[in-house]
Amino acid sequence: MAKEARMKVGFLGLGIMGSRMAANLMKHGYELVVFNRTPQKAEGLLQQGAAWAETPRAVAGGVDLLFTMLAHPEAVQVMALGPNGFLDGMKAGTLWIDCSTVHPSFSRQMAEEAKARQVRFLDAPVAGTKGPAAAGQLTFLVGGDASDLAECQPMLEAMGSRIVHAGVNGQGTSLKMVVNLLLAQGMLAFAEGMVLGQALGLDRELLFQVLLGGPVASPFTASKREKIEGGEYEADFPLRWLHKDLQMAGIAAYEHGVVLPATSLAKEVYGLAARLGMADLDFSAIYRLLSGEMNLPE
Ligand SMILES: NC(=O)c1ccc[n+]([C@@H]2O[C@H](COP(=O)([O-])OP(=O)(O)OC[C@H]3O[C@@H](n4cnc5c(N)ncnc54)[C@H](OP(=O)(O)O)[C@@H]3O)[C@@H](O)[C@H]2O)c1
Repeated sequence: MAKEARMKVGFLGLGIMGSRMAANLMKHGYELVVFNRTPQKAEGLLQQGAAWAETPRAVAGGVDLLFTMLAHPEAVQVMALGPNGFLDGMKAGTLWIDCSTVHPSFSRQMAEEAKARQVRFLDAPVAGTKGPAAAGQLTFLVGGDASDLAECQPMLEAMGSRIVHAGVNGQGTSLKMVVNLLLAQGMLAFAEGMVLGQALGLDRELLFQVLLGGPVASPFTASKREKIEGGEYEADFPLRWLHKDLQMAGIAAYEHGVVLPATSLAKEVYGLAARLGMADLDFSAIYRLLSGEMNLPE
């Protein structure tokens, strides 16, 4: 077993992504201390030998390195700096790696908060969804010092197959904003294409074949075919978080003096879908909204 594999690692945020990422760390021999707002979601990991901490702060004291995989900036803020937050409990010189999708200025703010406590910080959001998270095939988009990245590289390699060092703190989440802007619009464009094609009397199978077999659709859309065909949208990536990501891309654009008209429009379409009860479905349910297949869950 590698030397790093005996390191004690903290992991906070055991949702769709975090639970699978943490499981891969354990598979690679890392000793885990975990916390999640909803404790039940830790049960699988505890059965595999992870230790439970009663508060985020209780995770921090005993670990060499701490990962967070949380929903949004508010969740990161409360876990890091709220009552019993972990940041004040981390030992000087240890490393916090935030894998949550948050906006870049928030990442830079967290880097400052960490630095003020002699804690090192990397923003390391991921590209890839539930399946790649389970398979250890995520792409990490990392912002921060190369030496800090080198330190946690074996752990990122336990969870991912590609690691991109984008630059200083905030550049990992900057790249993530750009990636998800394309993800949202690619899905929306595909849904519109399918809806129009079928309204024009084109065969659905033919549309799938032509759109997914050629260069016009984003490559990831092929992975959504089964959900669209089956009309079942169990979340790999909850629509509510893509809506959140578009909101954050808008914040980043405002802060940097650029405009994103198509992204803003897409944000409102996903927001409407969320309002109509699709927030917890996979974001590909945007097709359901446009197609009129409004068979919403009870
Ligand atoms: N799913 C994907 O395909 C995917 C892909 C790339 C990136 N991401 C990003 O990864 C992050 C996690 O996504 P996910 O899909 O794993 O979402 P998820 O299943 O909804 O998990 C969200 C996590 O955040 C915690 N959380 C939410 N609000 C909180 C609060 N106010 N205080 C404390 N904890 C809070 C949740 O705790 P509870 O369990 O108590 O609710 C849970 O641990 C998000 O930033 C998302 O945008 C997701």
